[in-house]
Amino acid sequence: MHIKAKFVGSFPMVKLCPQGDLPEFAFIGRSNVGKSSLINMLCSEKNLALVSQTPGKTRMLNYFIIDDKWHLVDLPGYGYAKVSKTFKAEFDKLINFYISKREQLTNLFILIDSNVPPQKIDLDFVEKIGEWGIPFSIIFTKTDKNKKGVSIDGNIQLFKNKMLENWDELPPTFISSAERRTGKEEILNYIFNIIKEI
Ligand code: GTP
Ligand code: MG
Repeated sequence: MHIKAKFVGSFPMVKLCPQGDLPEFAFIGRSNVGKSSLINMLCSEKNLALVSQTPGKTRMLNYFIIDDKWHLVDLPGYGYAKVSKTFKAEFDKLINFYISKREQLTNLFILIDSNVPPQKIDLDFVEKIGEWGIPFSIIFTKTDKNKKGVSIDGNIQLFKNKMLENWDELPPTFISSAERRTGKEEILNYIFNIIKEI
């Protein structure tokens, strides 16, 4: 399965983002969750999402056009520990605005690190997105890691259980490893099926 990805641009404000009605699939998660690695894997390119790591780009909405049919959007992460309150508030605002107002947004993928037990910041974020009624799915990342004392399956199950405390149904969930290239087919098929239905 191969897709053709091209970098479109990095935009600091929603109103500057590409016009038109191409459906958008956006990716978000805590810093270091494996977002760039996942995007590179989906696109079969080594350095595609690197652009989002260059200084100054971290607060931007990074757009890629895929097969001339849809946009992949690399969103800034949430929950950075080492940034000022003002900085945090600013990009919370940008993310919240994008997610709640961008009409082209078709599905939000929330990335969760499968190597750590459920984190409050992730649960809170998922809760908020659910409450807002935004279509979303969850991707558990780094499932290849095999650290002593860490149960990947256990962490994933705990996260799902936590969600089920507040919701009757789980959103679609995927497991991925950029290292082993797992999850690519499932995630891309899921996107293709949604696009087909539009
Ligand atoms: P920031 O943009 O810096 O917030 O991080 P990110 O979410 O884009 O994560 P990135 O893809 O840069 O990966 C962070 C670290 O996790 C790197 O050291 C990666 O090599 C590692 N990593 C990412 N994906 C995987 C994976 O599937 N398996 C393993 N074992 N490591 C991974
Ligand atoms: Mg990154």
